[in-house]
Amino acid sequence: MPTHYFSTNQPQKWHALQLQRHLQISPLNLAMDDDGSNPSPPYDLVILGASGFTGKYVVREALKFLNSPSSPLKSFAVAGRNHSKLLDTLKWAAKPNSPPPSIAILTADTADPVSLRMLCSQTRLVLNCVGPFRLHGGPVVAACVQAGCDYLDICGEPEFMERMEYSYHDQAVETGSLVVSACGFDSVPAELGWMFNSKQWVYPAVPNRIEAYLSLESDKNIVGNFGTYESAVLGVAHMDKLIELRRSRPSRSKPKIPGPYPHKGPLIDYQKEFDLWVIKLPSADTAVVSRTLAMLTKHPNGFPGCYESDGQIEKRKKFWSMVNPAHFGLKMGSECLIGVFRFIVLGLFVGLLGRSSVGRWLLLNFPSFFSLGWFNKKGPSEDEVASASFKMWFVGRGYSDLRTLTNVGDKEVDAEIITRIMGPDAGYLATPIILLQCALIVLGQRDSLPKGGVLTPGIVFGPMDLQERLQQNGISFDVISRRIGSTR
Ligand SMILES: NC(=O)c1ccc[n+]([C@@H]2O[C@H](COP(=O)([O-])OP(=O)(O)OC[C@H]3O[C@@H](n4cnc5c(N)ncnc54)[C@H](OP(=O)(O)O)[C@@H]3O)[C@@H](O)[C@H]2O)c1
Repeated sequence: MPTHYFSTNQPQKWHALQLQRHLQISPLNLAMDDDGSNPSPPYDLVILGASGFTGKYVVREALKFLNSPSSPLKSFAVAGRNHSKLLDTLKWAAKPNSPPPSIAILTADTADPVSLRMLCSQTRLVLNCVGPFRLHGGPVVAACVQAGCDYLDICGEPEFMERMEYSYHDQAVETGSLVVSACGFDSVPAELGWMFNSKQWVYPAVPNRIEAYLSLESDKNIVGNFGTYESAVLGVAHMDKLIELRRSRPSRSKPKIPGPYPHKGPLIDYQKEFDLWVIKLPSADTAVVSRTLAMLTKHPNGFPGCYESDGQIEKRKKFWSMVNPAHFGLKMGSECLIGVFRFIVLGLFVGLLGRSSVGRWLLLNFPSFFSLGWFNKKGPSEDEVASASFKMWFVGRGYSDLRTLTNVGDKEVDAEIITRIMGPDAGYLATPIILLQCALIVLGQRDSLPKGGVLTPGIVFGPMDLQERLQQNGISFDVISRRIGSTR
């Protein structure tokens, strides 16, 4: 059963109603509020996995918005399997020289479905920070969908996301549970970034492809926590499962994109404009963007909100009418060629060793060695997090005049628009900022969002004010250059 470490003034009526539901006893007169409506759950949101490396930064971000003016976040709880670690999180997240904030601590284990059901019955929204998601995420999504409560996570594992979509989408539509994975650095900058670039193309100019180049920067070491490394290792190790899953499903709708399919290009490339050596690496971003493009092809006006105002309907349709579909790809960048070779060596280690159980044991037990120092079990220090940042460049290439493009492949691209997103440390500052802003949209503007379903962040939050919110919270979007009529 959940425990409340700190005293909270949550309605007893709600707990009694949940107890009644779980014990399946007959309705009592306490089931309704005085006005005849169901009482609200005690917590606007629950952060599950709050004791984790990323989870604790999510808690710190959530505290910034708790009860602040105009914030829809009036209450939240932290949840996980270890009470004392959750208490440590609250102490860590407190302002310097202040006592831990008065936040309820709930007990829930992803291996215990009853604890998850109880968790979901106490909130409108679960923010899931428990990874690797392929090991722990399924039961959490199942519990949310069953309870009809909303779910957001910071997953970067395509197989998990696609499996959840196939397994729970229809049920989630029915129960009114909105399930959106990848609401962190994977994959919101990629999703909003390609849309931002795509919206810069004004008819008759159209994009053919948008290539993203990601550069992680720091004055100190660039370090990630073991949780991300483990998720990546297990994802690569089970790549065959993802392929199998995709083959077992009907193929997704393909957008109509003007011009031919872009050439693959060299494995390693030098991008003069950004002074970056770049290499293509498998990423969740391309998989998520391609799902958004497929959804958009089937639903060109996006998904209607459950109780959308006329103004919001118009805004949503206008937004999607400005987004031009384009091929999307992502490359990882480094200022020096040696950095790119480090990516290759890491890719080779994970790709080759990840396939056998002995190899995986080695990879997971010696993360620092096999990741060439990029990941370790302690995670980055607070200083390392504070000094890290990311830049993501989006190079859109296309045609200055769609009307002159008569046959596929009959014309070289002659237009280029470059945009850029920049922000603080990708994993532990940008991810919490993004997740919290998505959560605040869910809490404050639920009527404008789809009733339910397992959807991508782009399709759900694209037409909302997410970009503006990120800009107000330290993640910038800029147009860098436009060249029409003179591009290779
Ligand atoms: N989208 C992005 O850009 C992004 C950024 C950062 C992280 N992530 C992802 O977030 C995930 C977490 O990463 P991390 O570095 O924060 O990992 P972490 O430090 O290992 O945290 C994992 C959390 O999950 C909890 N947990 C594990 N098993 C559980 C269970 N059976 N029931 C309930 N809770 C359980 C842990 O609780 P205990 O404290 O009790 O062990 C801990 O709170 C990874 O999948 C990572 O890839 C994504």
